[in-house]
Amino acid sequence: MSEGWRRGCYSIEAVRARARGVLPRPVFDFVDGGAEDEWTLRRNETAFEDISLRPRPLNGAAQRDLSIKLFGQKLSMPVMIGPTGLAGLMWPEGEQAAARAAASAGTAYCLSHGSVCKLEDIPRVNASPRWMQVFIYRDRGFTEELAKRAAASGYDALVLTTDNQMLGNRERDVRNGFSIPPKFKLLDMLAMAGKLPWLWRMRPELQRITFGNYVRSGEQIDIGSLAKRMSELLDPSMSWKDVAWLRKIWKGPLLIKGILHPEEARQAVARGVDGVIVSNHGGRQLDGAVAALEALPDIAEAVAGKIPVLVDGGFRRGSHVVKALCLGAACCLVARPQLWGLAVGGEAGVAHVLDIFRREIDRSMALMGASRIADLTADMTTARNSTSQEKRNAKISNR
Ligand SMILES: Cc1cc2nc3c(=O)[nH]c(=O)nc-3n(C[C@H](O)[C@H](O)[C@H](O)COP(=O)(O)O)c2cc1C
Repeated sequence: MSEGWRRGCYSIEAVRARARGVLPRPVFDFVDGGAEDEWTLRRNETAFEDISLRPRPLNGAAQRDLSIKLFGQKLSMPVMIGPTGLAGLMWPEGEQAAARAAASAGTAYCLSHGSVCKLEDIPRVNASPRWMQVFIYRDRGFTEELAKRAAASGYDALVLTTDNQMLGNRERDVRNGFSIPPKFKLLDMLAMAGKLPWLWRMRPELQRITFGNYVRSGEQIDIGSLAKRMSELLDPSMSWKDVAWLRKIWKGPLLIKGILHPEEARQAVARGVDGVIVSNHGGRQLDGAVAALEALPDIAEAVAGKIPVLVDGGFRRGSHVVKALCLGAACCLVARPQLWGLAVGGEAGVAHVLDIFRREIDRSMALMGASRIADLTADMTTARNSTSQEKRNAKISNR
């Protein structure tokens, strides 16, 4: 395959622009879009503008070590791939390609419950560390079955996502009539001249695209039916009792994804959860929810170092990662950037995205005077509302 795409893909935003060029509009919008007015989606990204960095270059950081340890496993950098349903729509065997890229980069891959492949396909490409994301289904037996299949397939951690018990109102998908497998309207087809390589590449798979872990093959679901199917599958009455139940079933590290309130984080610690992921689902669920970066400091304070606090939502620069680490995050997950990378270059595209993050984090750390991740502390940031930030700085004992 021609690797000419690399030339223009010098930043995550440039990878996104390239992905917009290669993906059919309904597919690009499915990835790019958020719920309703997309306020939370935008806030995730603009929240980084409210935090400035205060470097300490005289600390001398000639050599930088970006590695971290999570649940006893070393990651080469504080960035991993977050769960995204239908990654296999970006590229043939997209989940396997992304998982391979993560493993080669020395970081973790989290598979979505809504993957195109089956969860058993990821160990076959030797992706490690590998995490599995699940929901609480009305049929608890199905949650249990997924957890048991994940354990049998050697997954290193289980992620319970809690912010998606009813599908968000994603109006771009409604407007585009997005469906699984995708059907394209005449207007889409006319606008598709530039998307022929994607169509050609996906041609053998397109009609078979489905949710490998639970939708019957050959079934066609539009977004309305998907919302209905989800509401049939997922249980909005989910509660801490279910967390306690899952805690008994899954013996390895258990994380809760979708934490935005410090009290939920405290509860998670009390219930024996091993990690929390501060997240608003990339602005795809509750529009109006607080930006992940904004929610992070209070949650880090509530957890007080007892378990790792991870975060996702809007990370597009190495300096964004550095800001989150200063504010108490142990690791950042990236979702859309990974899908954009997949769309432009498959495994090589995801490897490229991870490499951009690595290089930008390294450069930012050099300029911050930080040789190790632990050198990044809250006092090296200042918030737009600096009085509240100073109070926080006084309270957060970072690591
Ligand atoms: C296309 C797409 C599919 C997603 N599917 C899932 C999913 O199946 N499970 C889940 O927990 N989160 C899912 N997410 C949310 C991401 O894991 C993550 O929380 C969010 O997108 C992070 O923001 P970012 O895209 O700005 O990096 C999805 C996100 C996108 C963009």
